[in-house]
Amino acid sequence: MAAESGPYLDYAATTPLDPGVLAAMRPWLEGLAANPSSDHPPGRHAAAAVSTARVRVAAFLNAAPEEIVWTSGATEADNLAVLGAARHQYGRGRGDHVVVAATEHRAVLSACEALEREGLSVTRVRPDADGTIDPAAVADALSERTLLASVAAVNNETGVTADLDAIAAAVKARGALFHVDAAQAAGRVALDVQRLPVDLLSLSAHKCYGPQGVGALYVRRRPRRVRLAPLLHGGGQEGGLRPGTVPVAQVVGMGAAFARLAEEARADERHLRALRARLEQRLAGIGGIVRNGRADGSPHILNIAVLGVHGEALAAALGDLAVSAGSACSAGSPGPSHVLRAMGRPDPIAHASLRLSLGRMVTAAEVDEAVARLAAAARRLRAFSPLWRRLSAGEPAEAVYATATPLALLEGCREPAHG
Ligand SMILES: Cc1ncc(COP(=O)(O)O)c(C=O)c1O
Repeated sequence: MAAESGPYLDYAATTPLDPGVLAAMRPWLEGLAANPSSDHPPGRHAAAAVSTARVRVAAFLNAAPEEIVWTSGATEADNLAVLGAARHQYGRGRGDHVVVAATEHRAVLSACEALEREGLSVTRVRPDADGTIDPAAVADALSERTLLASVAAVNNETGVTADLDAIAAAVKARGALFHVDAAQAAGRVALDVQRLPVDLLSLSAHKCYGPQGVGALYVRRRPRRVRLAPLLHGGGQEGGLRPGTVPVAQVVGMGAAFARLAEEARADERHLRALRARLEQRLAGIGGIVRNGRADGSPHILNIAVLGVHGEALAAALGDLAVSAGSACSAGSPGPSHVLRAMGRPDPIAHASLRLSLGRMVTAAEVDEAVARLAAAARRLRAFSPLWRRLSAGEPAEAVYATATPLALLEGCREPAHG
């Protein structure tokens, strides 16, 4: 995308709207979008459009259309999954315990805190130093009291992917429900609910070139229907699980975005992998850049720490480069990222960390420009940094930052030929 300001490398926060998606939405924004619950011709016309969108989102997951519940985004889908499933089961005396990864999005973690206030207990599974959630650690956390486990398919800060097959097997062996937050995963890693025994799965349109303000929760119906306590009360829309008039234009946009996501999957992956390799190779050239995460994570996210600089100074030096900086990764929550902290990163490293995220419209020139700006900022800030003086004198980063957690420096990798 030719951004008007600086390069835009914040696709994990939100993606631009795909022009084809906007074209699909336009008639419903400019013309009449009748209430799809209304029993008259314009209402039935709107209902048909909503139904097509539902089929498209379901097809993306290999689900049945009736298993898709529209929400306002992944935050609401996460809340409906975690609160809705746990409350329904808890109310029937089936247990009182929930297991989550400590690295989950705030939407899941805050919903779990609400459950704790209601008398349930929550186990937060810590990641390894590279952000991996060990399926064995999830299995250890489960008990016969566990109602639900929730682990994101792709972490939104580090891009680290979860071994969903192994985690699902452990959760199912305990007879608990399994929720997956797939807001970052859709279009980046394979998602197939026929293959993966997941019960609930959250999606967001605006991470996938669709509009903001709409998402969906997949709720399994077969072989057994997953029951949820609704969060809202009102009309009977969405089978009573999510009452409220269905926003036709938004939902049509989400359907169009997910249809295109399926069509573009291979091309998107090739593009992302080439950009990511280019980004890593050029960043490695700056020196003193630590990877927060794993090299085999989702290709659209790269989280790095810039050694030898202070987080606040770094954020200020970025100017109009649109990346997610330090604590801004969990916008609204003060302090360093809970994900980086859970990985054992000391606060000065977490503060000096940046999430760069890529997408379909990012160009190689934008990547190069972003790295050039970062290199200039690092050079400027390091010139007067006592930390950098120690690092460049050969002192190990772990000693300089007084941490036992290994800090893996980014190393140059070969760029694919189609870069
Ligand atoms: C993993 C994950 N879950 C949930 C959300 C919330 O999504 P939404 O903005 O659609 O509410 C996000 C986006 O920030 C995310 O990355």
